[in-house]
Formats: sequence, C-alpha cells, structure tokens
Amino acid sequence: MMTFHQHLLRALVEARAVAVLTGAGVSAESGVATFRDPNGLWAKFRPEELASMDGFLKNPALVWEWYQARREVIERVTPNPGHYALAAMQAWYAERGGALTLITQNVDRLHHRAGSTDVLELHGNIVENYCSRCTRPHDYRYSDNPDVKEPPRCSYCGGMIRPAVVWFGEMLPVNILAAAHHAAEHCDVFLSIGTSAEVYPAAGLPLEAKQHGALLVEINPHPTVLTRYADEVIAAPSGEALPQLFEQMRLLSSAASI
Ligand code: OAD
Repeated sequence: MMTFHQHLLRALVEARAVAVLTGAGVSAESGVATFRDPNGLWAKFRPEELASMDGFLKNPALVWEWYQARREVIERVTPNPGHYALAAMQAWYAERGGALTLITQNVDRLHHRAGSTDVLELHGNIVENYCSRCTRPHDYRYSDNPDVKEPPRCSYCGGMIRPAVVWFGEMLPVNILAAAHHAAEHCDVFLSIGTSAEVYPAAGLPLEAKQHGALLVEINPHPTVLTRYADEVIAAPSGEALPQLFEQMRLLSSAASI
C-alpha cells in the first residue's frame, strides 16, 4: 500500500478542475514501448527517418511497416490499471460537478479503450489515416488489412495514405492544443504522468499550469526535467500509483462527508 501526503489527497478531493498530461510511460505497463527509456523506440530507430514527412517521402514502405508493427502491438495489448483509474477519476469529478481534462501525447487510443472521454490527443492517433497529399481521411483499418506492406493510395488523388499522427516538424492540431492550454491555465491540480516532458509544446503545459497557480504533481518512476519544479512527486509506475491514489482520494472524500 502506497502512502500519499495528506495535502495532496486533500487538494485532489477539493479540486474542481484537474488537468492530466500523459505520455508513453502510462502505456508501458500494457506492453507498449516508450521512446526515450533505455529500451525505448528512439534507442533503436532514428525519429527523422520514421516520424517525419521527409522520412516518409524517402522511404514510404519502411515508415508504413513501422506503423503497421506498432499497430499490431496496440491491437494486441489492453489498457492497464493506470488507464482505468484515470477514466474512473474523470467520471468521479464529473459526478461531483467538477472536471478532469485528459491531455495525452499517446497515439495508442488506450485511454479511449479504458473509457476516458473527450481525450485531447495532442499528437493524433495511430488508428486513423489520411491522404498525405489532399488530406482527405481514409478509412483504412489495420485489423482488416494487417498485411499491407506499403502505404495505400488515395482514391481521389492517388497520394499516399499516412497515419493520423503528428510527425516531427508538423503543427499540433490547433483546437486541441488551445483546449489543452485552457485546461492547464484553469486547473487546480495538474498531473504529469509517464512523460519525459521533453517534447514541446506538450512539455510546456505542466509549468504553464503551475504559473497559473495549480499544484503540480508528477507520477514517474524516474526523474525528469520537470521533477524539480513539481510540488509532489510520486516516484512509482502509474499502473500502481493511480489506482491507489484514486482509492485514497475516495476514502478521504467519504470520511470528510460523514
Ligand atoms: P518518453 O519515452 O520520452 O518518456 C516516457 C516516460 O515514461 C519516461 O520519463 C519514463 O521514466 C516514464 N515511464 C516509464 N515507465 C513508466 C511507468 N510504468 N509509469 C509511469 N511512467 C513511466 O515518452 P513521451 O514523454 O510520451 O511524439 O514522449 C513524448 C513524445 O516524443 C511522444 O508523443 C512522441 C515522441 O517522439 C511524437 O511521435 C510526435
């Protein structure tokens, strides 16, 4: 059983607005690789080759196959207790007239599968696809076509179909980023979970929240560039920490209302 500071539990119970930023670490316990850990994807692959428009144009089949392999993993795995705890916390705040805004850098859709709603996907998702030339959405589904080795062609313009993720050098979706900034600036507590906080603009959100008066909490088994700015650090895997944190919040809340 983990113990948390009473003032953290109290802040979470009393909060009206909570914002959460998640990164690849939240899905690590589901079996999805992170990027910057010693066994992470960027230890084995070059981001500019696989996650940029230049890389895609130079070697479309390589990039497509890499995304197909990641899709295969994501279809096979399931959300872990950390994903479920965040979904349950979101419902709990909503029942009490508050709100938990879930902002994620993850493209794996595991938050959706765990039941979270209105997820702000800053980096898009790996499930949907669109035409790299005319930008029309394309209804390619990995599960229907697991063996497609090259990007399919757009039926309107013949352009190559690409995954609906944000690549290096590309803009984040403007409305989603604006909603994330709004949530950061108006929350009472901001939780940064399972992210190295190294990729901007997402990495700027936790400090933006703190500058606007939020309590900044980090959940990560390893220190990050954010750790020294955090008001509370829970140095544990999110799949273990989040269910216990939520359980203890509920205990405190029911004790307070007796
Ligand atoms: P990183 O791989 O940079 O960081 C993952 C973080 O998760 C690290 O700080 C780990 O310590 C932590 N971690 C590992 N296991 C954990 C666990 N069980 N519980 C909690 N934390 C754990 O991943 P991101 O910060 O998500 O962007 O990377 C940000 C962006 O860089 C990604 O969205 C992706 C990548 O390039 C794009 O592709 C645009």
